[in-house]
Parts: sequence; C-alpha cells; structure tokens
Amino acid sequence: MYEILEKKILCPQIKEIVLDTPAIAQKAQAGQFIVIRIDEKGERIPLTVADYDREKGTMTVIFQEAGKTTQQLGALNKGDFIMDVAGPMGIPSSVEKVGTVVCVGGGVGSAALYILLKAFKKAGNKTVAIIGAKTKEFLFWEEKIKSVGSEMFITTDDGSCGRKGFVTEELESFIKKEKCDLIFAVGPVVMMNAVCRVSEPYKIKTIVSLNSIMVDATGMCGACRVEVGGETKFACVDGPDFDGHKVNFQLLLQRQKMYLTEEKTILDMGKTNEERECRCNNE
Ligand code: NAD
Ligand code: FES
Repeated sequence: MYEILEKKILCPQIKEIVLDTPAIAQKAQAGQFIVIRIDEKGERIPLTVADYDREKGTMTVIFQEAGKTTQQLGALNKGDFIMDVAGPMGIPSSVEKVGTVVCVGGGVGSAALYILLKAFKKAGNKTVAIIGAKTKEFLFWEEKIKSVGSEMFITTDDGSCGRKGFVTEELESFIKKEKCDLIFAVGPVVMMNAVCRVSEPYKIKTIVSLNSIMVDATGMCGACRVEVGGETKFACVDGPDFDGHKVNFQLLLQRQKMYLTEEKTILDMGKTNEERECRCNNE
C-alpha cells in the first residue's frame, strides 16, 4: 500500500498528489512513468513522473480527471492509500549537453516538463520552456518550470495569459530568431504532431513522449504499439520517447480514435469499467 502524503487541486479537474514510494523514488528519472491500481478491482493506469525526492522517498504525479479511475484517484485525500504502484517504467529521456533545448508542454502534458528541463539544465544546456493551455485556469507549475528554464513562454488558446494561440506558434517564433538544437514535446498527440511539422523544415531533432493506449505496460499485450521509422515499437518498453519526425502520427491518431469509439461502444453495451482495462497513458 502506498500513502498519499499530499494532494493539491491545480486547475479544474487537474490534481497533484505526492506518494510515499521510497524504492521507486530512488530510481525514477525524467521521461519515465508509473502504473497505479487504486484497489483490487481497479484498472491499471499509467501516469508520468512529474517530480521525485530521493531523500524523502516521494514521487509526484499530476493527472487530469478524464475517466472513472482518474476521478476515483482525484477523490482520494492525504492519508489515503493506493494499492499498487509499479515503476519507474519506460526508458528515461536521453539527456546530454547539446546546446539549446526547447521543451514544449501542452495542457496536462506540461506535468512532464519540470524534471525534464531540470535534467537538461544540469547537463549544461540552455533550457527554454513553452507551455500552453486552453485558458489561464488550466496553467500550473509556471513558477516551478520557470526555475529550471533560462526562458519561459506561455500561450493560451483564448489569450487569457501569455500569447494568444497554440504552443506551435511560439515555437516557430523562437526557432526563427534563436538557435535551437533539440526540441522535446509532451502533450496531446495532435500537438506533438504539429510540433514535429514545425521543426521538420528546420531539421531540428524533435523527441515526442507518446501517450499511446496502454494495458499491461510490460511489452506483452501490444496495445501501445506505434509505428516509428516504418517499424513497430511498443511505447511502454521501447519508449515513451521517440524521434517525432519518424513517428506515424496518422496511424497513432487513428488508433486513439478507434479506442475511444470501442470504449464508447463497450460502455453503451453496459459492460463494467473492470471489463475494459485499456486506458490512455498519462490522462
Ligand atoms: P489541450 O487540448 O488543452 O491542449 C493543450 C495545448 O496543446 C493547447 O493549449 C495548444 O497550445 C496545444 N495544442 C492542442 N492542439 C494543438 C494543435 N492542433 N496544434 C498545435 N498545438 C495544439 O490538452 P489537454 O486536454 O490538457 O490534454 C493533454 C494531453 O496530454 C492528454 O491527451 C494527455 O494524454 C497528454 N499527456 C501526455 C503525456 C506524455 O507523457 N506524453 C503526459 C501527460 C499528458
Ligand atoms: Fe502492452 Fe505496451 S502496454 S505492450
């Protein structure tokens, strides 16, 4: 059993919890995720590691209440327990000194940015953060992210904070005026695809963290398969980071849509949540 040591409501439906996970906290690195199961009847859901404290033995995750399990998780409070926490999973992000690294976070995907920027900064890079959300109410951790970024830019779809528009517009403006050696994008698939389309003509290496559908998260079921450079890869064990310019985003988007349609059909048929184990990564 793993205790919830802290809980914060960051934005509408977006919550942060700090978990007492000493063994996982010792090993967790930027880019990795954990898989949790709230109770014995619960489904497994993957969540991105947002932060960790090796001394305190804690790990922080941020999630959006998007379905039954994340709503159940959001209803838990400080002092409550989660039955299973497995991890850290996935291959850690490759962090080297390359020059200027721009990390782009969209919506709840920005949760992954703090430890990523921190790692790149520690490796001696100039770190730039671009975070985007629908409105200013959906922004979180701005100060924390700013503390590990040499520069930070904010965009909101409605212009209620920072530049009005998408993160991709801010990224293109940055690329046009400054040197950029590596781009990291974490967020909705459409956003990661759009980031890759912006960076491609400039030939800037772009890594995306793929939130494909996951079931077992151990490389056994194949649910998270993605096509990268014409080869089939499993996001849970081969990723979640991949070279964005090689990812077949059309296929990924199709698979996500298919899953959502199937999920709706299954629910319409009156099956219980336990009967469908799939869940999109990092809700
Ligand atoms: P959202 O729909 O509110 O979008 C957030 C931002 O992304 C927008 O403000 C915009 O700047 C950008 N964006 C969206 N669509 C775009 C487009 N077509 N072109 C360019 N930019 C675009 O995001 P949300 O509802 O918070 O969803 C966040 C997503 O992040 C979820 O799908 C979640 O699964 C994913 N996520 C991924 C990871 C990961 O590791 N890959 C981690 C956490 C969350
Ligand atoms: Fe089953 Fe990746 S989630 S192989």
